[in-house]
Amino acid sequence: MTYRPEVCIVGGGMITRVQILPSFFQLQRLGLVGDIHVCALQSAPLRELAADAMLKKAFPGFEFIPHPTLDSDDAKPDPDLYKKVVSQMPPRQIVVVAVPDHMHYDVIRTALNCDQHICSVKPLVLKYRHAEEIAAEAGKRGLVVAVEYHKRFDDRSLLARRYYRAGRFGEFRIGQASLMECWYYRHSNFQNWCTCESSDMFAYIACHYIDLVHFITGLKPVAVSVYGIKDKYPNGREGFLWTDGRVIWENGACLNVQNSLGYPDEGPGGNFQGMRLYGSKDDRATLIVHNDQFRGVEHCYLERGNDPGDTVYAQPNPDYFQYVDVGGGGLTPVGYGYRSIAAIVGRIRECMQISAKKPERTALRVRQEFLKRLDNEGIIATPRNSAYNELVMEAGRLSILNDAREVIIRYGSNAGVDFRRYYLRAGASPSRE
Ligand SMILES: NC(=O)c1ccc[n+]([C@@H]2O[C@H](COP(=O)([O-])OP(=O)(O)OC[C@H]3O[C@@H](n4cnc5c(N)ncnc54)[C@H](O)[C@@H]3O)[C@@H](O)[C@H]2O)c1
Repeated sequence: MTYRPEVCIVGGGMITRVQILPSFFQLQRLGLVGDIHVCALQSAPLRELAADAMLKKAFPGFEFIPHPTLDSDDAKPDPDLYKKVVSQMPPRQIVVVAVPDHMHYDVIRTALNCDQHICSVKPLVLKYRHAEEIAAEAGKRGLVVAVEYHKRFDDRSLLARRYYRAGRFGEFRIGQASLMECWYYRHSNFQNWCTCESSDMFAYIACHYIDLVHFITGLKPVAVSVYGIKDKYPNGREGFLWTDGRVIWENGACLNVQNSLGYPDEGPGGNFQGMRLYGSKDDRATLIVHNDQFRGVEHCYLERGNDPGDTVYAQPNPDYFQYVDVGGGGLTPVGYGYRSIAAIVGRIRECMQISAKKPERTALRVRQEFLKRLDNEGIIATPRNSAYNELVMEAGRLSILNDAREVIIRYGSNAGVDFRRYYLRAGASPSRE
């Protein structure tokens, strides 16, 4: 029997429209997944998805199953509807988590309780203890939980990882990364949730490059300090919309990460992003530079497009997610945004295929061994092999809310975060932990 999992995407917003749903439509086109359900709080975003001109053009005749139905009353949002949909799926299908950050934990717990494999957008969860709990529960049930850090599937990241691990870059010493999203984001739903008391730009976007530094080097972050600058959103609420973070790694290396909703809307790319890592060995220096904003493509159109941030002169990113016409009808999604989802689905299918047609206890053992392999490989981010991200998130929040005080990260049985303590002894220089 070929395993062709049903898919339930929980969340029908921006990321579902631009990356997740088209990726799953493509996997459906290839015969790798079955029906695709999409759940939202109410029908309005689902109507927008169903009417999306790009999706229709790329996938003529393809449909998702909306929950609630497209004609249901928008005045009655149902936050628990996804629970009913997920509980009605046969076990060991795929639930995709694409709701706002603070809701990931509940959706993941529901999906695990219903014995579903999970593909979650970043961040997996906001607390380290939740990541540990999810890892334990998924392990017990032999379910894959994958965190969709798609920059890992940019070939330049995979190449840097392979060369770094072959010793060609020596040891990472110091670096800078930045990801500045467009100013117009301030006018979107961000202003309702990404406010000082719940999140900040470091928490929202720094994780991409911090995750990449670990992905490439294998080093773990051990201390974080984040300075945040407050700005007012159009609705008057305040957010830390400019952040400067410093992450210290277990070998003493240092990464400076700057993030904001501050890239000019008239700038030619969809954002500004990139990183520069310096390393050394013996008497020589090494360098990894990823210019992730300008990828060598320049366009100048007759007119600007209709989407926010569209410009007449543009530097489109051909690597993240684009549609191309390679014949055969419709359009084909290409780029690391698609490859990342395809890789996760591929590993879930592998997990199910190697354990198929076996007695339940044996199948469970085979799936559990497979999960350990995924954890150890470290290519797909799992709750166990990427929980440093949750610790960085906790440390970053503690720091930004306390005037950038440095916060240290502990690993092991006593894992957690705490302010760095300084000791002053009479007549001696100050010392620190
Ligand atoms: N680069 C990346 O990896 C990347 C980029 C963008 C967003 N994200 C992540 O994706 C997630 C969603 O972001 P977005 O920009 O699509 O948000 P959005 O606000 O555009 O959409 C959120 C969706 O969640 C739905 N929702 C809310 N509560 C729900 C519930 N109880 N049941 C079902 N649906 C519910 C809403 O109806 C909406 O459709 C966030 O965690 C964000 O951090 C990741």
